[in-house]
Amino acid sequence: MEIIRVKNADEGGKKAFEIIKEGIAKGATTFGLATGSTPETLYSYLVASDLDFSDKTSINLDEYVGLSGDDEQSYRYFMNKHLFNEKPFKESYVPNGKAEDLEAECKHYDEIIEQHPIDIQILGIGQNGHIGFNEPGTPFDVKTQVVDLTESTINANKRYFDKVEDVPTRAVSMGIGSIMQSKKIVLMAFGEAKADAIKGMINDAPTTDLPASVLQNHDDVIVIVDEEAASKL
Ligand code: GLP
Repeated sequence: MEIIRVKNADEGGKKAFEIIKEGIAKGATTFGLATGSTPETLYSYLVASDLDFSDKTSINLDEYVGLSGDDEQSYRYFMNKHLFNEKPFKESYVPNGKAEDLEAECKHYDEIIEQHPIDIQILGIGQNGHIGFNEPGTPFDVKTQVVDLTESTINANKRYFDKVEDVPTRAVSMGIGSIMQSKKIVLMAFGEAKADAIKGMINDAPTTDLPASVLQNHDDVIVIVDEEAASKL
């Protein structure tokens, strides 16, 4: 793992932007994208840039079960707002959280990932070390699946909803196995709330108790951390 320390989320987003720009110059065409507050600065830099994504593909990590793409709390809506409306891609995949047959949706999503191998995967990290919505205990080889969100994740994400009861309890998430197949992975973490997860991810032996620790088994991972997230390293 290469660790890049930055002052704050703005500097971190700029670093990630530079990695994507360099990746495109070297021929990257398919990007795994994440939601949450962490990648917002990266998306601002992408939007402000002259990079063209109209011949590129994006594949998002996850979506809440039960929310449609025009629901303001859905991850599809988040992506449209922060990136796709300004920088359209040739094709942008986000799991369909309203699919009637969720098992079939997961299979379909795996086929999409297989057909479009991810060159650069952007990741945030949950306070409990989850990546995508792969919660602690998730086997390292799983593919896209429907997951039950932990209380910690529901609490962390409730800030986007009017009340905690509105936070969906399930999500469709790309699996750890698929994330690990990405050629390059860039994980960003900003703020003190991420310090324990970052410490465990980097310093402890890989364990399913801390899903992000699997990244130690990948040979091209860049971790971008601000001072607070790096404070326990
Ligand atoms: C959610 C998303 C993750 C994200 C995490 C952290 O659970 N599914 O992809 O990394 O939240 O969110 P934030 O960046 O807002 O701290």
